Amino acid sequence: MVWGLRPHAPASNHNIKDLIFMDDRKIILSGIKPSGALTLGSYLGAIKNWVELSDTYNCYYMMADLHAITVRQDPATLRRTTLEQIAQYIACGLDPEKNVIFIQSHVPAHAELAWVLNCYTMFGELSRMTQFKDKSQKNADNINAGLFTYPVLMAADILIYQADLVPVGDDQKQHVELTRDIANRFNGVYGDVFKLPEPFIPKVGARIMSLQDPTSKMSKSEIDNGGCVCLMDKPEDIMRAFKRAVTDSETEIRYDVKAKPGISNLLQIYAVATGKSIPQAEQEFAGQGYGTFKQAVGEAVVELLRPVREEAQRLLADKAYLEKVYTEGAQKAAAAANRTLRKVYKKVGFIQK
Ligand code: TYM
Repeated sequence: MVWGLRPHAPASNHNIKDLIFMDDRKIILSGIKPSGALTLGSYLGAIKNWVELSDTYNCYYMMADLHAITVRQDPATLRRTTLEQIAQYIACGLDPEKNVIFIQSHVPAHAELAWVLNCYTMFGELSRMTQFKDKSQKNADNINAGLFTYPVLMAADILIYQADLVPVGDDQKQHVELTRDIANRFNGVYGDVFKLPEPFIPKVGARIMSLQDPTSKMSKSEIDNGGCVCLMDKPEDIMRAFKRAVTDSETEIRYDVKAKPGISNLLQIYAVATGKSIPQAEQEFAGQGYGTFKQAVGEAVVELLRPVREEAQRLLADKAYLEKVYTEGAQKAAAAANRTLRKVYKKVGFIQK
């Protein structure tokens, strides 16, 4: 990672907001809504890859707080979970010296670009987003316009950094594809303004399922029913969740998502948590009972998350450090984001300030 002065920055007296990535590594942008605790699903589907990719890419990782308010949030809780999320990003292994870690609402250019892109996104495209359909069913009393245009803000998040790669879980693939469509449409009118991003979806771990209903995705909304494990959960709570995990009435530990969704989900979690392949995991537990297997998966997850929880707790006690991370992160992010926004404003015909 090489930082340098942005072009036209004053040579003396420069400050952090003039610093930009100067090497030609490819760029990553990703984020998570701080709408609750970070889950094992977000960790295995996204963050784990962020950490692995962070040595070879220039990375922007954000707390997607603007996205979080498409569903009602308690303000004090949102502030707390946003700060906790920063601590957890770092505790997972994202070094703030090498990665730009920031809070989305601290970089107004995201919302500004989203407005422009709204005018280049079709109503029909947004109507086809499966997450919109799901979420509007779940929040029938609050189907707000933000929930509908949310993918446009996500497109702005990605395109504003000229990201090459977007590491996400399976459920976000459609949004990255829409981002490409919007970018293509805009580029078709104005020339090559945006880079076309690719989704990066892990082969195993892209869709971690609920421990209580293995046919639906593990999500924060299931914290109370035991279907979801969170990064900050205590070992005894994690073990309890895995012991109670729904399986099937057979005895064989075999990967077969259709016939055995519960066991397949546990095999997937075990494989990603230990770095083994699914066939290796199947072999390891051949002939053993479900009880032993669930215990082993629980222990693997406890060991995977233990250092993250301990380090996040330590970081949370140092609010000044976290504030420094997100303040500097926003300054670096804004420097890159504003360059793209200026270019877009010029292209569409706004008078430059
Ligand atoms: P969010 O906050 O719902 O989820 C964050 C990330 O975690 C992944 N994920 C999962 N992966 C596997 N199994 C699961 N059960 C699971 N649950 C969540 C998600 O795929 C995602 O990668 N719109 C995004 C946040 C966002 C964003 C962006 C992402 C805003 N702007 C720009 C990438 C680029 C969201 O709601 O993710």
